[in-house]
Formats: sequence, structure tokens, C-alpha cells
Amino acid sequence: MKVLVVGSGAREHAIVWKCVQSDLVERVFCAPGNGGTGGMARNIAIAPTDVVRLVSFAKQERLGLVILGPEAAVEAGAGDALRDAGFQVFGPGREAGRIESSKSFAKALMRRAGIPTADFDTFTQPAPAKAWAAARDGQVAVKADGLARGKGVIVCSGVKESDAAIEAMLVENRFGKSGATVVVEERLEGPELSLLGVTDGTEVIALAPARDFKRAHDGDLGPNTGGMGAYSPPLAVDESVVREVVSTVLIPAVKELAAGGHAFRGVLYAGVMLTKDGVRTLEFNARFGDPEAQVVLPRLETDFVALALAAAKGGLASFPPLRWTDRPCVGIVVASGHYPDEAGMQIGFPIRGLAEMPRGVLIFHAGTRFEPGRGLVTDGGRVVTAVALGDTVAQARETALSGARQVRFEGAFYRTDIAQEAVAG
Ligand code: AMP
Ligand code: GLY
Repeated sequence: MKVLVVGSGAREHAIVWKCVQSDLVERVFCAPGNGGTGGMARNIAIAPTDVVRLVSFAKQERLGLVILGPEAAVEAGAGDALRDAGFQVFGPGREAGRIESSKSFAKALMRRAGIPTADFDTFTQPAPAKAWAAARDGQVAVKADGLARGKGVIVCSGVKESDAAIEAMLVENRFGKSGATVVVEERLEGPELSLLGVTDGTEVIALAPARDFKRAHDGDLGPNTGGMGAYSPPLAVDESVVREVVSTVLIPAVKELAAGGHAFRGVLYAGVMLTKDGVRTLEFNARFGDPEAQVVLPRLETDFVALALAAAKGGLASFPPLRWTDRPCVGIVVASGHYPDEAGMQIGFPIRGLAEMPRGVLIFHAGTRFEPGRGLVTDGGRVVTAVALGDTVAQARETALSGARQVRFEGAFYRTDIAQEAVAG
């Protein structure tokens, strides 16, 4: 079978890496891919949002499966168009994908389905939004309604901050159309958990739990990013927590989407907070997490393509239980200087050290590009994820860190505290 992975991040590199290991697969393509996917699959110069060309490529190659990586492909309607043309797609259609692309849609769905989440309201005018936040002393999270690549949430600890966040979105339009509607919700406290469920629209099979580190700098300081690292399984997340999130968050969401006529086929990602009052849902994503995919997929021993195909076809009820390695996995993102500030960020620098990786380090590329005559150069904010499995979290972390240290380019930085919380002593 021929498989197309849509996207160009480290998440897609990890998906491609998994697909090429499948016995079911004869050839893997990646659209548009990056400097890493080009080494193990064929990169095809089609943007994830170019739905027309994705469909004609699928026809030309008679693809057996298309896997949608990024939310942009979902929002562009790639899932609908490919399914309408008769292809098997691991990824939802646009309407089901609104669970990610509109925070107000997601919050309304959670309310209808009784999914535990923070108290909230939705606003298009600054004055009532500010009043709602002020009534909670500014202890709120202000969220741009639309897609903002992980950067559209401002967590506030006072009225000055909540006023500024609301102004930035509703008055200064700093998030463009995405911020023309905002969700303001109560601020919650507690460790976070990313639980990804593979679903065919009815059944849900949870993947191994992971924790993502969203702030740019050590100690959870600095701005929110798309994710600076992750590990699996996270501290204090046992089977019972996973079961609870599946039954109170993922299954009700999948049912509610199906009841609305929009069955979700693909990966539904629940971002939850484990508060002292119980599980609370922060967000849904309609796709794999990045960097969660980079630490979850290496632990999966079941053939991923068989799983994705069963979800695409609606056959998960008879799918055998997933097999996982017990070995923990840690992933550390090496980013371009100034990331996530795209304006201050420079790219195009040569990347050195990738050929001398310590044993056991997997490198998943994101913002890399092969430039004839210069080799690999940086091409985005998150450049690579250095990933390692280990007998213990401590060992996986040390190996991943030794990999991250080895990746050298001008302005490179990475967090040194990913998964440290889970290292004894
Ligand atoms: P989201 O995109 O909604 O997951 O938000 C991004 C990040 O902002 C989350 O991973 C949390 O770290 C933080 N966040 C979101 N909502 C809240 C909330 N209600 N209280 C505290 N932190 C939040
Ligand atoms: N790591 C968070 C995300 O993929 O949205």
C-alpha cells in the first residue's frame, strides 16, 4: 500500500518513520515534508492546505491511506475532499475538526456533553469580557477562538494582564481573525496531561499518555509555544487516570460529534489539567500533538498503519489491544533563537552535529531544509526534536539531552528540564 503523510513538522517525521516500519506499506510520501522525511520517504511539494492537488496526487498514486498531520489540513477540508474522492483518510473532516479550530465550538460541545472543563464565557466585545475577567480578579485564561499555532492562549494572574490580553485580541487584532472572538475562562492549576485517542467515530482507543512542556524556557517561564518537549508516560498518571479521561472526556466528545452528524476519524487529542477538584479539559486538538507524537509513537509496538487504517475504515471495535513498550520516552525540541517570536527569529543557518548523534538518539526534523551546496539549514522555529527511550525516565532524559546538545546552529536553544519532575531524587 502507498501512504501519504500530510505535513512538515517533527510530528510528521515521526509518523513517516513509523509508517516505513509497517509491513503493510510499500511506499511512503510526505507533503510537503522536510529535510528529515526526505531521507526516508519521498517529499512531494504540495502544501497541506492545497486540497485540490492532494486529491489529484492521491488519484495518480492510488494511495491506500492518507494521514493528516497538521490542523491546517483539517481546516482546509482535506479530509472531506479525499474521502469524497474515495480514499481512506486518518484525520477528521472540517466540521468535526472545529473541535480544535474553534475554541467556542469546543467549549459549547463540552457543556452539552457534560465534559468537565473550566467555567467560561464567549465574547466579541472588550467591555463585557473585561468585566467577566475582573469578577474573577483577572485569574483567567484568555483564548483566541481560532487557530493560533499554540500561541493564542494568554494565562493571566491579575486584572491588568487580563485587560491587556483582551485588548490585544479584541481591540488591537493581534491574532487577526482568530482573535475576533475570545473565550475567557477561569484559571485552573495542576499538572497537565495530553491523552490522544484513536477513533473511528464510535470506538476510542487511547494511546500512551504524555506531558507536553509549552513554555519556551526552563522552569515553565517565557511565552507559550507549540511545545518545547514532552515525555511519556508522565509522572502520577496511572491506568485509572487514563480510563477516567477516556470515559469522561474522549468518549463523550466523540459521541457528541457523531450525534451532530460529523463522525471523527483520526486522532482526537484531549489536553487536560489534573486539578485538585479532578480532571478538567483545557482543549481538544483534531490531530496528533507535536511534540507528543515524537514520544508516543516510539513506544507503540503495534503496526501503526494497521491501526490508522482500521480507524479510517470504521473497524476499531475488532482491533486487538495495542502493544506498548514499558520503556519511557523523552523528546526535547531544539528551537531557533527568539522562537516563538516569529518577527525576531532568523532562519537559514547551517545545522551541524546530526551525523554524530549518540547511540539511541532519534532525530525528528521540523524546520529543516536541504539546500544544495550548503546541506541542511534551519527553516522554522522548532528545528528538530531529539528523542530517546530508556530503561528509566532518567536514562531516556540523559540520552535525549545528549542528542539536543549535539545539534548545533546559530541561536539554537532547548529546555534542559523536560521530564526532570519524573526523575527520582
Ligand atoms: P490550550 O491551547 O487551550 O490548551 O491552552 C494552552 C496552554 O495554556 C495549556 O496547555 C495550559 O498550559 C494553559 N491554559 C489553558 N487554559 C488554561 C486555564 N483555564 N487555566 C490555566 N492554564 C490554562
Ligand atoms: N503540543 C501541543 C499541540 O500539539 O497542540
